[in-house]
Amino acid sequence: MKRPDWWRSDATAPFRLGPRMLPGRVWTASGCFGYGLAAHDFTAADCASPYAGLGAVVTKTVTPLPREGNPMPRLVETPCGALNSIGLENVGFDAFLTTVLPELEARGVPTIVSLAATTPEDFGPMVRRLHDAASGFRHWHGVELNLSCPNVAEGGHDFGSSPATVARCVAAARADLPDRALLAKLTPNTADIAQLAVAARDAGVDAVSAINTVVGLDVDLRTGQPYLPRRFGGYSGAAILPIALAKVDQIVRGTGVPVVGVGGIATVEDALKFFALGAVAVQVGTAQMRDPFAAARVAAALGQWSSS
Ligand SMILES: Cc1cc2nc3c(=O)[nH]c(=O)nc-3n(C[C@H](O)[C@H](O)[C@H](O)COP(=O)(O)O)c2cc1C
Repeated sequence: MKRPDWWRSDATAPFRLGPRMLPGRVWTASGCFGYGLAAHDFTAADCASPYAGLGAVVTKTVTPLPREGNPMPRLVETPCGALNSIGLENVGFDAFLTTVLPELEARGVPTIVSLAATTPEDFGPMVRRLHDAASGFRHWHGVELNLSCPNVAEGGHDFGSSPATVARCVAAARADLPDRALLAKLTPNTADIAQLAVAARDAGVDAVSAINTVVGLDVDLRTGQPYLPRRFGGYSGAAILPIALAKVDQIVRGTGVPVVGVGGIATVEDALKFFALGAVAVQVGTAQMRDPFAAARVAAALGQWSSS
């Protein structure tokens, strides 16, 4: 598309996020590009690499212990998106720290580490170990707290739906993260997302990421049962773009908390809608699973305008 008259920014230039300079404003979203290591051999005629121009890869969420995730099937394609119930399958924090993060650093991948835990206090030790192990790393830029998982200590409801719990998670992480960006990823499955953003800011985040997936369900008409064994899943992709835009608008206009926009972005036009509302950066999720070059192409399109 033609560059809109209102667009003045340079989304491919480094920008400050809290204590850290990040290399750009187009990122990949957690869980949709693995740990950021699987696509280094990919090539395309119009794009040097799936990593070209990216401001950050947000890793798959890592938990204190390894997790196998939920039983299959756990990903269902819908006409306008995807419904997933992966259950946070990941290698666990120890393996991530000793093998994955050093490899990301060696490859020069700008990295935001996504973390989840079952109690707010679990975040402190993880962040401390991350800080100790990777304080010399040039490409590790920060941590995104995935606050959309069940909180065991509080009876299994989502961490992210209680402002007080959001604040405790952020405070536990911030104390040991003096020199990297700290983000809290917010759930849209709440009546007032702005309240969560305020709780996160007051406890010390540099930005919030909005949104995680929307609760959804789809039925397999052959069986009359939900496709997913756990019935509900997280809905993502093109269909949630207007939901994500609405949530981002509520946060920006209602609170002024810096927001990284996530939800339904596949093209430069989609990304521009978030920037128009005041997002400081954007993340590409589900689109990245269909086309690993999606985020890089968005960055390339914005970069062309910036230099023209
Ligand atoms: C298969 C899949 C796995 C995901 N895993 C994670 C995850 O581990 N941590 C997280 O914070 N978000 C996870 N998400 C949510 C995405 O990061 C993103 O917030 C959401 O999908 C909305 O963006 P999209 O519409 O561009 O996909 C996952 C999404 C999908 C589709």
